[in-house]
Amino acid sequence: MKLLITGGAGFIGSNFIHYWLKKHAGDQIINLDSLTYAGHLESLKDVSHRHHYTFVKGDINNSELVDSLMSQVDIVVHFAAETHVDRSITDPMIFTRTNVIGTQTLLEAAKKYGTRFHHISTDEVFGALKLESKNKFNTKTRYQPNSPYSASKAASDHLVMSYHTTFGVPVTITNCSNNFGPYQDTEKFIPRTITNLLEGKNILIYGDGKYVRDWMHVEDHCRAIELVLLKGKVGASYTVGGMNKDVSNLEVSKKILKIMKLPESRIDYIKDRPGHDRRYAVSWKKINKELGWEPKEKFSKRLKQTIDWYRANEWWWKDMKVKSEDFYKTK
Ligand SMILES: NC(=O)c1ccc[n+]([C@@H]2O[C@H](COP(=O)([O-])OP(=O)(O)OC[C@H]3O[C@@H](n4cnc5c(N)ncnc54)[C@H](O)[C@@H]3O)[C@@H](O)[C@H]2O)c1
Repeated sequence: MKLLITGGAGFIGSNFIHYWLKKHAGDQIINLDSLTYAGHLESLKDVSHRHHYTFVKGDINNSELVDSLMSQVDIVVHFAAETHVDRSITDPMIFTRTNVIGTQTLLEAAKKYGTRFHHISTDEVFGALKLESKNKFNTKTRYQPNSPYSASKAASDHLVMSYHTTFGVPVTITNCSNNFGPYQDTEKFIPRTITNLLEGKNILIYGDGKYVRDWMHVEDHCRAIELVLLKGKVGASYTVGGMNKDVSNLEVSKKILKIMKLPESRIDYIKDRPGHDRRYAVSWKKINKELGWEPKEKFSKRLKQTIDWYRANEWWWKDMKVKSEDFYKTK
């Protein structure tokens, strides 16, 4: 098979390329990425020489380029997006351009060639659950996005489904909870926390820190995408989450401090993010029942591995960390 991966230089995209080439060594991958501040080719250093892998620097809004790449592939796995909620508050327009118009540009080309299209989306399209709630998001949950990021992802999900219903494009969607693991930009919560500590700085916690997320390791996510690509029902969406160990940002910080043998006095509380969603929790019953998927990666074990990874790979994050600190300073 020949796959077009969009946003393959980002966190989940680069993990997915590693995963796919390991499991499907005969397949060809084209990685289309415009290398925004969030795209890091260094994440693909160890696969870049392989003749099964091609990198194309380009924008998913470039319809001519997208058309020419689409004509060459069997499947698209669409990761490319603006992804940082904080940036969607300071600069929302780029989120619509990339996440909505960019997705539609890809869909137009997929319509022309009848290409199988898998869209990577987020549980944030469903809004927030109450802190004390025992509910979980599932594929029947009403869309109720709260940030410009989640609103743009919600719009893209609707476009993807509309291209299936109206034009018969063979699509699937996964709405996934918060991922963590190697190669995640230091602007995001877990890597920012770890690298702050590695640099001798304190951890920064928004508000009271009681923001609960359903963490899942990126490898579990890659396995879910693989299953949906190979066996998922065309026209379906699947919600994907972690091992039901949803923990607050404050608890995650304390776990990281404990693993790194540092005191809790290293936590600083800062002004809350506007419109901050209290709690996300995701049901993975449908993907389990239909495709047999379940999360396998234990949170604490993988968190320790992630800390070890950042400790051992300072070369990968040191420069980007300066940029993400600049962003937070100007906020
Ligand atoms: N990270 C998470 O926890 C999470 C959870 C659920 C869903 N998602 C979704 O998964 C996907 C990947 O997320 P991530 O965390 O890996 O993102 P990321 O920010 O790490 O990477 C995004 C990539 O997209 C590229 N890109 C951005 N705009 C582009 C454009 N116009 N044309 C081509 N490439 C462009 C960037 O250069 C970067 O390489 C996104 O669609 C996101 O909404 C992420």
